[in-house]
Amino acid sequence: MNITIISGTNREGSTTLRVAAHVTSLYAAQEGVNASLLDLRDLPADLLSPTAYANKPAALQPLVDQVLASDGLVVVTPEYNGSYPGALKLFIDMLPFPQAFERRPVCYIGLAAGYWGGIRPVEQLQQVFGYRNAHQYCERVFFPAVHKTVGEDGAPEPGLAADLLTSQVRGFVEFIGNTKA
Ligand SMILES: Cc1cc2nc3c(=O)[nH]c(=O)nc-3n(C[C@H](O)[C@H](O)[C@H](O)COP(=O)(O)O)c2cc1C
Repeated sequence: MNITIISGTNREGSTTLRVAAHVTSLYAAQEGVNASLLDLRDLPADLLSPTAYANKPAALQPLVDQVLASDGLVVVTPEYNGSYPGALKLFIDMLPFPQAFERRPVCYIGLAAGYWGGIRPVEQLQQVFGYRNAHQYCERVFFPAVHKTVGEDGAPEPGLAADLLTSQVRGFVEFIGNTKA
């Protein structure tokens, strides 16, 4: 089973990337599945070119291949201005339609500096992935006040969010197995 963990921002020094790296290691350590990180800093800069929709930059292809080879996607998104980052939407818009998401299992982790822990970006993503007929795993995880509750290694401090993450990782692997059956 191949699971791809998408770090939902390309911001240098991002906390999301650290959390996504931790989640990637959890899938391998806890569930023994192949898990790989997709880092949006790898998006080619010319993806913003007006011609990029028709003529995709070659450097996008490895990221496309990684998504298409995934049995499941974990989207780790920060909250930017009450939503998810524009870089993530651009990536979604540049992936092949419909095969990138059609019936592909997806689950979500939200994080934010604020009190609500990224529930807004996650719920907005659920609308997008719902539109794209993804198989959405309903157990979501949120990290509020992320600068205080997540360590340098991207792991949440012991407590509810850490327990929910353990549960989500286990449950999502089971969900993927069930949707394939
Ligand atoms: C452009 C930008 C907009 C942000 N908007 C919000 C916001 O609306 N609500 C919030 O709680 N945190 C907001 N934050 C804080 C991030 O959620 C917080 O920094 C968290 O670490 C995740 O972002 P990061 O992966 O870029 O570090 C914003 C951060 C940036 C860079």
